[in-house]
Amino acid sequence: MILALETSCDDTCAAVVSAEGEIASNVIASQGLLHARYGGVVPEIASRHHLELVDAVTADALERAGARLDDIDTVAVTRSPGLIGALLVGLSSAKALAATRELPLVPVDHLHGHVVASTLRPDPVEAPYLSLVASGGHTFLARVDHPSGYIVLGQTLDDAAGEAFDKGARLLGLGYPGGPAMDRLASEGDPDVFDFPRSSPGEFDFSFSGLKTSLLYVIRDLGEEAEARAADLAASYQRAIVDALVERTRAALARDNFERLAIGGGVAANSELRAAVERLDVAVWVPPVELCTDNAAMIAGAARFLEPVEYPHYLSLDAAARLP
Ligand code: KG4
Ligand code: ZN
Repeated sequence: MILALETSCDDTCAAVVSAEGEIASNVIASQGLLHARYGGVVPEIASRHHLELVDAVTADALERAGARLDDIDTVAVTRSPGLIGALLVGLSSAKALAATRELPLVPVDHLHGHVVASTLRPDPVEAPYLSLVASGGHTFLARVDHPSGYIVLGQTLDDAAGEAFDKGARLLGLGYPGGPAMDRLASEGDPDVFDFPRSSPGEFDFSFSGLKTSLLYVIRDLGEEAEARAADLAASYQRAIVDALVERTRAALARDNFERLAIGGGVAANSELRAAVERLDVAVWVPPVELCTDNAAMIAGAARFLEPVEYPHYLSLDAAARLP
């Protein structure tokens, strides 16, 4: 059994997962509402709350799994990338938990977790597959030949897709996090009313910063009418993001003849994206929403395929805001 912790951003997460990828528990304590009043994640507040929550969330994950620390064979934890103070809380807790039982520890790349979320049970994807990860901090396409790693084929050159959702939602006055709110509002609007740009900076690369600027200008030009057109604006803006993601995915699928596609990251919770990838001519794995947004089960999922660090060598391990 693997006990995993994930605290790279604003969710305090712990999970218990078997070596076969069976999820025994997956606990997520979201700090979303705490940060909403600031319009984004405040790093210092996030790390303080991780510190307050991490013990209770870990105990909850063990209890829901019907397990005790004595039943755990390996501890896994997100080491990078993320907010450094937030990462340090999870890493220090994981080290302490592992060290008390002299258990091995697996440091995990957060993005690797998103890439392999679909390898968890009950319906695991098998490699090779194409992975589309679209989150608040990252957006990329990766080739997975074996779930122990991934090769990035293309990525965003500026904003992440989730960032585009969040910034667009802010311009529409929808609050934070903007993705889910934009998703809801878009379902009431017409996506063909406004024509937002689909930039293609490279074969498999993305660019979303121009889109946000273009929304700003359209809202400015509409003036007082913008409020009444909010649903159409949201639907058209969301369509532009989803189109960009799906078109690049389609190109990567075709070039390398992939038979399988798995999507992940917070934006994979988007209803229009979920529906659009199902229309691609390939077998598609779309994990449940709680495995798309940040969670610790995916960190345990990645740890299954990695070499653990034995006690006490991990005690000197450091977190890293960016991937080493
Ligand atoms: O993967 P995640 O939970 O955290 C990061 O690692 O960034 O992704 C969070 C991002 C946010 O930008 C949020 O607005 C977006 O995922 N998101 C959505 C939806 N749910 C979450 N974007 C579009 N539609 C959604 N339903
Ligand atoms: Zn994430």
